[in-house]
Amino acid sequence: MNFFEYRNGELYAEDISIKELVQEFDTPLYVYSAKTLRRHYEAFDSAFEGTRHMTCFSVKANSNICVLKLLGQMGAGVDIVSGGELFRALKAGIDPQKIVYSGVGKREHEIREALLSNILMFNVESRQELERINQVASEMEVQARISLRINPDVDPQTHPYISTGLKKNKFGLELEQAWESYKLARELSNIEPVGIDCHIGSQLTSVEPFLEALERIKSFYGRLQELGLDIKYLDLGGGLGITYDQEEPPHPAEFGRAVKESLKDTDLTLILEPGRVIAGNAGIMVTRVLYTKGTPSKNFVIVDAAMNDLMRPSLYGSYHRIEPVQEKSGRLYTADVVGPICETGDFLAQGRELPRLEQDDLLAVHSAGAYGFTMASQYNSRPRPAEVLVDNDQAVLARRREVYFDLLQLEEQCF
Ligand code: LLP
Repeated sequence: MNFFEYRNGELYAEDISIKELVQEFDTPLYVYSAKTLRRHYEAFDSAFEGTRHMTCFSVKANSNICVLKLLGQMGAGVDIVSGGELFRALKAGIDPQKIVYSGVGKREHEIREALLSNILMFNVESRQELERINQVASEMEVQARISLRINPDVDPQTHPYISTGLKKNKFGLELEQAWESYKLARELSNIEPVGIDCHIGSQLTSVEPFLEALERIKSFYGRLQELGLDIKYLDLGGGLGITYDQEEPPHPAEFGRAVKESLKDTDLTLILEPGRVIAGNAGIMVTRVLYTKGTPSKNFVIVDAAMNDLMRPSLYGSYHRIEPVQEKSGRLYTADVVGPICETGDFLAQGRELPRLEQDDLLAVHSAGAYGFTMASQYNSRPRPAEVLVDNDQAVLARRREVYFDLLQLEEQCF
């Protein structure tokens, strides 16, 4: 459920018409709905009511500081994967004791920054990383709280690029290695093992893989008791899917019920790292039709947004619903919606049924609030779009549109 709706044939974000936003902010434009973000956060977080837990929004899904602030004000923590995300989170006022740091390749300076900020814990993905964190922590004369990320070898049945918990994936430690690493962690002077972690993939549309992973983690946790470690946290990662097209992922309440049931006999504090389920359907990308053209074999709708603005269709073949901002009736026809970039892979949709579109029509590309702007680039020297956050009848420019000067700002003078 989100707050992008048609009123008298015109698409609105909450109480503001998209057309009005475009008049002010131009296209391509990311539009986020604050009410939807709050609703999604609330629905997710309340699914774990009655159990000690922490909802740590996954910053990589949408790292706009206004979005982070909004979620932080609702009590959210965050899951970060880089020093840059830590910087954003702290600037957004997130409590460091609600920050968990995941990722396979943390650099030394990033570890130092996280220790300086006194984050809750690192989710460690290799033995060498554990040793590196210990070394940095001992130089700083602090204790580093860690959990080890277990790779439970569970098939999340999602796109191969976004499954992470299979043994062939680069993520985490397989059980025996994890066991050895916990033993090592116990010996390391500046490491305090406080948690156990996994994240099996993204855009999961059923609870079963989560439950399977939990079973393995629980039995491993049982074994861990032998080591006498004081494990307080179980971090289940993120991954709950959303509806882009026909998918029917479990509602967070169903997910919450199943997870709570599975963990009812433990007294661990549960950590969750949702990204997409909070932000995905809280944002759209608005684009303008530049040209339409038909060839003997195909119709093309050429728009002013491209793969650099929204990469998901090109990278994963992902489906994003596309609708005219001004509702149109009449016969549908089939077209590819493509951008101005010089690559055949530059498309927002292929073989899509659409009403007849004309030059200057505005289109809403739905479900673009997660992994949309955060994956945008300047490829083809295209300044990145603006981001706007709507709250009832108020719109704030959450990030200004880049201008040509931004393209060159960081480049040295050559002569
Ligand atoms: N925690 C960890 C350790 C992760 O790696 C991820 C996502 C999440 C949490 C959040 O997962 P979510 O709840 O959003 O599914 N660019 C891809 C998605 C990559 C996800 C990477 N990790 C896409 O556009 O579909």
